[in-house]
Amino acid sequence: MKTKTSDSVAELGDIPPDVFRKHLHQLADWIADYREHIAERPIAPNIKPGAVLAQLDTAPPEAGTPLDQIFADIERIIVPGVAHWAHPQFMSYFGCTTTSPGILAEMITAALNVNAMTWRTSPAATELETLVLNWLREWLGLPDEFSGVVYDTASISTMHALAVAREEASTSVRTLGLSGRSELPIFRIYISDQAHSSVEKGAIALGLGEHNVRRLASDSQFRMNVASLREAVASDLRHGFKPLAVVATVGTTSTASVDPVGEIAEICAQHQMWLHIDAAYGGGLALLPEHKSVTDGWAEADSFVINPHKMLFVPFDFSALYVRDIERLRRLFTLTPEYLHLRDPAGAEINYMDYGVQLGRRFRALKAWVVWRTFGREGIAARIREHVRLAQLFASWIREDPRFELSAPVMMGVVCFRLKNADDKLADQKNSATVATINSSGNAYLTQTKLRGRIVMRLGLGNLLTTEEHVRRVWEIIRAAA
Ligand SMILES: Cc1ncc(COP(=O)(O)O)c(C=O)c1O
Repeated sequence: MKTKTSDSVAELGDIPPDVFRKHLHQLADWIADYREHIAERPIAPNIKPGAVLAQLDTAPPEAGTPLDQIFADIERIIVPGVAHWAHPQFMSYFGCTTTSPGILAEMITAALNVNAMTWRTSPAATELETLVLNWLREWLGLPDEFSGVVYDTASISTMHALAVAREEASTSVRTLGLSGRSELPIFRIYISDQAHSSVEKGAIALGLGEHNVRRLASDSQFRMNVASLREAVASDLRHGFKPLAVVATVGTTSTASVDPVGEIAEICAQHQMWLHIDAAYGGGLALLPEHKSVTDGWAEADSFVINPHKMLFVPFDFSALYVRDIERLRRLFTLTPEYLHLRDPAGAEINYMDYGVQLGRRFRALKAWVVWRTFGREGIAARIREHVRLAQLFASWIREDPRFELSAPVMMGVVCFRLKNADDKLADQKNSATVATINSSGNAYLTQTKLRGRIVMRLGLGNLLTTEEHVRRVWEIIRAAA
């Protein structure tokens, strides 16, 4: 093998170690500078679809390209073409972003590049996954009967939870499937009109049918209406459907409202329905002792999903699914090809590949372990507390300005608000146009959503680089744009 010490590509094998080291040092500085000066960048590019592609060489690379040139293209084309989620005035979605310890851990994960499919393929990856899942379970106050597994996203977590619910209610769907089985009832799943579309996607993937997910009108606070749930279940039973599951949300996508999980749990118990809690965003609030009431009813659930990449400062992606008696999930998905029969004969190990569809699995636990150890529960809670305070502060400014109104109660780091106008249609246009103007300015970034059929602006706080000063600036930008 020819190895060169210059900044060129070796003919075989990896790039030369000294070249790698040089780029690693440069990259370390680049990342540190990026974090330190991110507030000076425009948050998002004001470009049309295809604009990035138009600047790139679209022909597949036949010969190798020096890394210097590739990094120059990253600086010139790629970085200006992304939305900078880590910018402190990016307040879209849940405003969540990475952290410096998270970035360091991701670099190590990339270097190790292990596959966490079985214990043997990387014992530390598996055991660290168990450890961080146990920490998180303790922080969430979930009972010990719950065990977890890490997936990429809440959509995947919820789909797996509903798969267990389906198997429990019908048995042998794993082996026989659903089609052609007239003995099986039509299952129904209940959610509020504020629930995330991942529930419908799960139902589509599992052959349960999108139309069998019933979206029930939420109450005045955007929570699931328990009376409507009771009626829907009773009506479905009268019409021969089989109520399968309720997905209750803690921290809904638009307003971060919290469904009355305790009351929902009672209805689930009464009708032997599976209770899945989607706490993808709001679950993190449980780390704050003063918000413990948010955990009401969690202990009664069958399954629970939280995305620590939303509120708990772990870089995207990391979703934890907890299932009461997780053996039920394992029984549903365990299936071992011959080449993976490298198992401990005593069965003492956990093989996370058994707990879902995926075989190959990233070593996601490392970044959670590094971030959570760096900040500790206290540090994480303090940062979330600050985001909630900033959201309340922003809400107080909205209340004081007669041109605006709050569109939903402020529960967490999310504020929905709206420019008032006697003409609803005109108000919709103005709110939508204000968000578009702000987002194209590059100085702030918000989302718009629809509540009760009306367009509202939405601010999400979750970035630990965001300070009160940034929120104040964004408020000024909103007022100017309005
Ligand atoms: C409440 C809720 N559940 C589920 C999801 C889906 O999350 P994911 O992107 O991890 O699939 C979201 C996304 O924002 C969400 O807000």
